[in-house]
Parts: sequence; structure tokens; C-alpha cells
Amino acid sequence: MTVCSAPGKVYLFGEHAVVYGEPAVPAAIERRATVTAEPRSDDHVRVEATDLSLDGFTVEYSGGTGARPDVDVPTPLVEAAMGYVDAAVRQARAAADSPNAGFDITIESDIPLGAGLGSSAAVVVAGIDAATRALGEPIDRRELADRAYRAEFEVQDGQASRADTFCSTMGGAVRIEGDDCNPIDAPNLPFVIGFDGGAGDTGELVAGVRELKSTYRFADDTVTAIGDIVQTGERLLAEAVPEADANRELLVELGELMDFNHGLLAALGVSARSLDAMVWTAREAGAYGAKLTGAGGGGCIVALDPTGEVEVALSYTQGCEDAFHASLATEGVRVEES
Ligand code: MEV
Repeated sequence: MTVCSAPGKVYLFGEHAVVYGEPAVPAAIERRATVTAEPRSDDHVRVEATDLSLDGFTVEYSGGTGARPDVDVPTPLVEAAMGYVDAAVRQARAAADSPNAGFDITIESDIPLGAGLGSSAAVVVAGIDAATRALGEPIDRRELADRAYRAEFEVQDGQASRADTFCSTMGGAVRIEGDDCNPIDAPNLPFVIGFDGGAGDTGELVAGVRELKSTYRFADDTVTAIGDIVQTGERLLAEAVPEADANRELLVELGELMDFNHGLLAALGVSARSLDAMVWTAREAGAYGAKLTGAGGGGCIVALDPTGEVEVALSYTQGCEDAFHASLATEGVRVEES
């Protein structure tokens, strides 16, 4: 039995624009998906998800998830989770050159599904790592990130960038530009997350931006403008010093850039009333800056605030279901037990 975990992430800057080759900077946060993989003597895959924000489910199948057994939880949740698990199993089998390997898989996650915190990437990364290790064929992190990306790409019909999977694999802050992915230095920024309890459909939201971009020049310019913000943000991060107190100026400037980035994402039509409400609550409570994170449409915002006041203000905001502080996860995927 092998147990691996991988972190979720927030986008400091650059979601959506990254799909069109602009740079993005996601940062891993200490909220993890944990996957246990136990090889079986047959080619079946049995998946038990004990905490995917709802009730959890157990599914057993062989030869793909096409003929899905009846399970007593909402179909979209199962569809989403099974698609990712299935793609992760395929990648692990290919990496270990064991096309008929079967597994008992258990998933536990404290990352809300589809909420912009990289839950599916964390499950895929931890799943491929646990399954290949359980077969005695561990792979290095670059290959793991690449296989996880291919799994997401497949499930999301080619609408995925490498950002979520690379960040979840490596931990810390990373820079993504097309296929070029690298860890970058970043101080432990005081992230506060607000979650509206909902989720956006990443595929639909990405398709919506693509449509807008091909119809209106302003949308094309907006994507380029997001890229400019990312580059300014990167330069600021490179100047950061480890002592948190010395970084006040940096937080002010990063926060301002986050505000700009949110406005541009709203112009691309991917914000939502609940996200805007949480962003404004965070700003009014003294956040250095706040923006939606991930595909948008619903889900989470991320704010910068070292004081605790934003978290309290968000928790009293109508439409905010959960608010929490999240520190930078300096470790990416890791083995919890083997
Ligand atoms: C979704 O978490 C972020 C998007 O940029 C899509 C992607 O990068 O795969 C909207």
C-alpha cells in the first residue's frame, strides 16, 4: 500500500491568459488530496472517495469507466472524479509498463472540488505517484507533472494548461509559460481564501473566453494585459526577502496587481456575483488585494492579509460558505506512507 498527497493551489496571477501562452504564477497551498493505492491481483479498479466535499462514494470497474455502476451520489461529482481517477490510472499503468494493473484506490481531500483550488490536479498527481510507487516503478517529478498534465488535458478536452499539475507536483510558487514550467522563489504570502460553496465548469469558462477573444479585440488585449501583470508580479516576487515584516511594500504592490488581475478577469466574463462580493469584502476589510482564483464562475477568491481581519469579514459575508487562511505549501507531492 502506498499513500501520497499533493497540494492544491491558488493563482497569484494569470489564469485563463495562461491557456493562450501568457505566463502565470500559481502557488501551492496547504490543503491536500491524499490518495492510497494498493495493487490488486486482477485488473479491476475500485475507487473509494471518502471526502469529495459531499458524501463520498465507492465504485468498482474493469476495462474503463464507460459502464458506470449505480452509485448514490450526484452524477456530476462522480463523473468528474472518476474521469480524473481513470486518466490517472491509465498514466500510471503506462509509466510502469503494466497495462493490466488493478488497484484499490482511496481518495481523501480537503480541497473543495472544482472551486479553483486545483483539486483535480492534486488528485491526479497524488494518484499517479501512489500507483506507480505501489507497482515498484516510481517516476521523477518532471515526468509525474507531465503525465498528470496529460491526464487533465484528456479529461478537460484539451482545455488544460500545465499550471495546476506542475504546481501541485513541485509545491511552492511556479511560473508557467506554455510548456515552460519552473519553480520560482516566493515568500510565504498571507493567503486568505473565501469559498462560495459552488464551482464553475472549467471547460465551459475556458470556451467562453476563447469565444470572446475570437469575437472582440478588447478580449484579446485583455489576455495580453493579464500577461503584463504577471510579468510585473514576477519581478516583485524576485525582489522579496524572507523576513515577512520587510515585505510590506511588496504586499501592497502585489495586492494592487491582484486587484487589476481580478478586474481583467471580470472583463472576460469569468467572475460571478458571489466572487465579486467576496473580493470587495476582502478589500474593505483591509486586504492588500483580492481576486478570483482558477476558472471562476463560482468557487474561491484569494486575498492577501496578514491580520486575520479579512478571514473574519469573509466569514460574515452572505454567499461565503467558508473562509480560511492558507499558507504556502513549500512541499509538492510527497509520500505519506509506503
Ligand atoms: C483553471 O484552474 C485555470 C485555467 O487557466 C485553465 C487552465 O489553466 O488549465 C482557467
